Amino acid sequence: MPNQVDMTVNLAGMVMKNPVCVASGTYGFGREYGQFYDLSEIGGICAKGLTLHRREGNPAPRIAETPMGILNSVGLQNPGVDAFIEHELPYLRQFDVKVIANISGNTPEEYGIMCEKLAEAGVDMIEVNISCPNVKAGGLAYGTRPELAAEVTREAKAHAGPVPVMVKLSPNVTDITDIAKAVADAGADALSLINTLRGMRIDVNTNRPVLKMNTGGLSGPAVLPVAVRMVWEVAQAVNLPILGMGGVSKGEDAAQLMLAGATAVAVGTAMFADPFAPIAVRDGLADIAQRKGLTAVAQLTGAVQPW
Ligand code: SIN
Repeated sequence: MPNQVDMTVNLAGMVMKNPVCVASGTYGFGREYGQFYDLSEIGGICAKGLTLHRREGNPAPRIAETPMGILNSVGLQNPGVDAFIEHELPYLRQFDVKVIANISGNTPEEYGIMCEKLAEAGVDMIEVNISCPNVKAGGLAYGTRPELAAEVTREAKAHAGPVPVMVKLSPNVTDITDIAKAVADAGADALSLINTLRGMRIDVNTNRPVLKMNTGGLSGPAVLPVAVRMVWEVAQAVNLPILGMGGVSKGEDAAQLMLAGATAVAVGTAMFADPFAPIAVRDGLADIAQRKGLTAVAQLTGAVQPW
């Protein structure tokens, strides 16, 4: 039987043909995955995090496996915002997929400059990363302090023109709703969560941390219950659409995030094992919605019935 469920969702005015995005930092700029399938199958691509200037990232080793996940300390390796606009955006624009640029700055002003460039270049959304655990300046320094998170959000909004601004929140805080509220009050159009959880692995033979930077960010199936809980808390605290992510590898995982309150979801680490994971997640979500007798996948959003 053909699937009759309407899969479109509206994330802060950005209408996607299905709710499944790919998470920043796990998909590069799409070129490698474009060898496997048509990128138009996906709802949205959150591109690899950009900075104002090119970055080489942190020294290796910067990836380590863990039970049910991986630790990364990549450190925002990227070609810089101008190179993205010149070389990568035209590639992504060949496909019928929403392009979400992810940005990190050393100062609020840098976020503003990048927003202006990206808005002029015509991306569909800007994801403001205030939650990278692997850099000294910016990153978690902004994402763990409500007043700084608000300042970055205001600066981004002031320079993004009509392009919606989505702020990416860190789980490495005592109460994520404090940051969510500050960012919402500062004018964010949407929120994405969760970024990775800070973690560490030690080689017991050498007594050395496995990652050169000692610590990194944990992602993968192990973090899904944390993501579901945080999406649920944030959805109750603020009235903004949420892109939920963290450990999604199948339709049921995505459905949990949507039931908790997410409008759309992003697949990340799962794609390192299976490049087709976003397509499987999309199809799994459609099956779940159909089994429930829904006419639209959007009816899942916030439909959890807490005890
Ligand atoms: C990284 O490049 O270090 C990961 C980015 C992030 O966690 O925000």
